[in-house]
Amino acid sequence: MTTELFNAKTQKENGTQYAGRVIRAGGLVAFPTETVYGLGANGLDGEAVKRIFEAKGRPSDNPLILHVAKKSDVKDLWAHVPNEAKRLMDAFWPGPLTLIFLKSGIVPDEVTAGLGTVAVRMPEHKTALALIRAAGVPIAAPSANISGRPSPTCAEHVLADMDGRIDVILDGGPCEVGVESTVLTLVGRPTILRPGGITREMLEQVIGEVDVSPAVLRPLKEGEAAPSPGMKHRHYAPDARVVVASGSWRKAASIICREYEIEEAMGSRCIILGTEQTRSCYHGMNYDIIGDRDDPATLCAELFSALRRWSGKVDVIFAEAIETEGRGLAYMNRLLRASGFTVLDE
Ligand code: TXA
Ligand code: MG
Repeated sequence: MTTELFNAKTQKENGTQYAGRVIRAGGLVAFPTETVYGLGANGLDGEAVKRIFEAKGRPSDNPLILHVAKKSDVKDLWAHVPNEAKRLMDAFWPGPLTLIFLKSGIVPDEVTAGLGTVAVRMPEHKTALALIRAAGVPIAAPSANISGRPSPTCAEHVLADMDGRIDVILDGGPCEVGVESTVLTLVGRPTILRPGGITREMLEQVIGEVDVSPAVLRPLKEGEAAPSPGMKHRHYAPDARVVVASGSWRKAASIICREYEIEEAMGSRCIILGTEQTRSCYHGMNYDIIGDRDDPATLCAELFSALRRWSGKVDVIFAEAIETEGRGLAYMNRLLRASGFTVLDE
């Protein structure tokens, strides 16, 4: 299969209209959203959805998000629309918030991996919205990476993983948020299954108390049921070991300096994903400043891109833990998973 690449800005009309027809015909289109690039298919066509799983090598027990272009579309996809969902959609859609509720009869089992619930989100990116409108159907889309690898935040990342496996890539430049949407289930107590751009604090201002699944910051225990199937699988792994250092910035930097020396003495090639605050600590070592510890959104925006930049080029990637408030929770969730929960704290 030849993968066609369109520039979503200069080839705007042609690109999205053509891609919409490809989706309607059962094909696969990668497209930009404000979070990460998605790999889309017609969300009401089980056969088309199966192709997503094949292209990504995704385990078939991991359900997909349906992307809609207007809020009222959820009426067709959920059994009914709970009050909390209405308030959250008014506050945060379009935007990086995915809501899970009981599914309606029209949602194919391939989308939900056989679950009785379905995840829906309305993205904020102009190209994503234009594509969904052009397709005229909800678009089922996971992140557009080979399963297990860091999610793609620009078209080059998608091309590296998906060239020859999908029909079309719409290139809309780099994604703004850089980590995937917040996933919130409204079945039972509202619970965050995956933290993202819409933070716990923001959600609580609209609907009151929100739980965070404990598995957001630690591995599942032996025999523990996964609140979300995505938690069972290895994620975001570059081709290098990732090691996280915890503690204050001084502490984290001193752990990294010590371990860097040990690794280097053993002949490992190392890179440090540093921050504005710790830049001066890594003098004479290989480092890559990816953002500001006081503004976790900057770190979220760069993390996946940095993991891909160093993947296969070094043996060890060191990174600093940060506080888990606000978007810091999303950052730590992705970083810990990328490291396979390898954390040094002294
Ligand atoms: O920002 C995003 O959400 C991106 C863009 C493309 O929209 N999409 C994305 O999709 O990250 P994906 O498939 O990589 O992640 C969806 C997550 C998975 O962890 C999956 O297990 C969970 O949502 N999920 C989907 N449907 C679910 C359901 N019915 N119940 C529980 N978890 C669900
Ligand atoms: Mg993904």
